[in-house]
Amino acid sequence: MHLLIWLSCFALLSLGSAIPEATVSTSAAARVVLTFDCSDSQVGAVNCKRRPKNLTWDKPSSSKQRERSSKAGCGSGNRCSKSPYGTGYQCDEFPFKSVREADQGRQLNRCVLARYNRRQYLRDYYNSYGEFRNKGCDKNSPCRYTIGFKNEKQLEYCKARPNCRNDGNEHTKSGPATVHGNDMGVDGPAGGHYRVAAGDVIYVPGGAAVGDVEFEEEVDDEEYVVSEDRIVGIEQGEAI
Ligand SMILES: *[C@@H]1O[C@H](CO)[C@@H](O)[C@H](O)[C@H]1NC(C)=O
Repeated sequence: MHLLIWLSCFALLSLGSAIPEATVSTSAAARVVLTFDCSDSQVGAVNCKRRPKNLTWDKPSSSKQRERSSKAGCGSGNRCSKSPYGTGYQCDEFPFKSVREADQGRQLNRCVLARYNRRQYLRDYYNSYGEFRNKGCDKNSPCRYTIGFKNEKQLEYCKARPNCRNDGNEHTKSGPATVHGNDMGVDGPAGGHYRVAAGDVIYVPGGAAVGDVEFEEEVDDEEYVVSEDRIVGIEQGEAI
């Protein structure tokens, strides 16, 4: 038994020399990773130039949300209400209008089908509704979380090393986002890949630790489900 404990400590230590310390430390207060499925979600450009990876819900007033939305180009009469988008589409900001990091500027907007919109997921997390009962922010701000990606290879912008070229649907308020104008340059590799207890491997751009709580949303035929899991391991084989 003692040997086993010692061996696992040793394993942890040798892991520690290979990757940044923050990645392996198990903090007392486990962090929360909200995972999005990149095969059915449209979170834009997190790893493109200087977009924040860790987010803080600050319980913004409606006027603050409108201000953030407008600065991102999602104000009233925005491009998503017009051709080639229109009915069924919504304008989605990143960073989200619900987080403090939106005020750092550099927001992008993307037109997404309403069913890809993650507003309910975030709203439930912030207010501890549904699957988040007794978890989540419980309506108290500031409330921090980080985002994770499942099936990250299915959407270029979810990848650890994305090609940040505009796919045509990444805009700033002033127009299409450009690599040249540095709206869309690539950050250095960030974060890492982690295994959750259910077995999936997720990619977390802001980094995570063993023990962190992880939530995943799934949208199947209009049905929205959230499941809770925990990070149990670090995937070193996955190049970032
Ligand atoms: C995100 O937060 C974690 C935990 O506080 C920290 O270790 C990490 O460096 C942060 N990542 C970024 C990209 O700021």
